Amino acid sequence: MASTTPAAITVAGLRKAYGSKQVLDGVDLTVPAGTIFALLGPNGAGKTTIVHILSTLIRADGGEVAVGGFDVVRQADEVRGKIGLTGQFSAVDSLLTGEENLALMGRLRHLPPAELKRRTAGLLEKFDLVEAAKQPLATYSGGMRRRLDLAMTPHGRSGDHLPG
Ligand SMILES: Nc1ncnc2c1ncn2[C@@H]1O[C@H](COP(=O)(O)OP(=O)(O)OP(=O)(O)O)[C@@H](O)[C@H]1O
Ligand SMILES: [Mg+2]
Repeated sequence: MASTTPAAITVAGLRKAYGSKQVLDGVDLTVPAGTIFALLGPNGAGKTTIVHILSTLIRADGGEVAVGGFDVVRQADEVRGKIGLTGQFSAVDSLLTGEENLALMGRLRHLPPAELKRRTAGLLEKFDLVEAAKQPLATYSGGMRRRLDLAMTPHGRSGDHLPG
């Protein structure tokens, strides 16, 4: 079906070396909008390097990379405004409850108290964590932790997420 929505990710001829070590040597890939994509490979294959290039954290040596139709070098600010990024290791605190973890993120972003309360409630709802909201993270399953981690990740400037 024809669509005017730009691909979520387009990568063409991507190259990156660290010193004399060529890590990425002509990577091509397209991720259509609205799809879930998993990048798999052995340790040291270059997955994190690609994610860092896609999220504007480091520069490639060559190739074309666009996220949401924006070039990661020439339109880095637009790309940052569009994406959320969660790390290889979770940032959540297991002594706090899910709700407290979310509220902490909001406070770090200087949300006014009423806004903080509204956003926290909205995110708990959205990530299906309302019932577990008052429980400490130590009691969460892996999937619940993952959902909380995503809820705590900045997701650009649109919609009802915390601002990025
Ligand atoms: N800043 C750096 N300086 C030098 N070499 C680096 C740097 N970052 C990564 N590398 C090397 O580049 C290669 C790819 O690393 P990268 O972290 O992208 O792999 P990965 O696929 O994410 O691995 P893992 O599955 O272990 O997370 C590895 O050989 C790594 O040692
Ligand atoms: Mg990695």
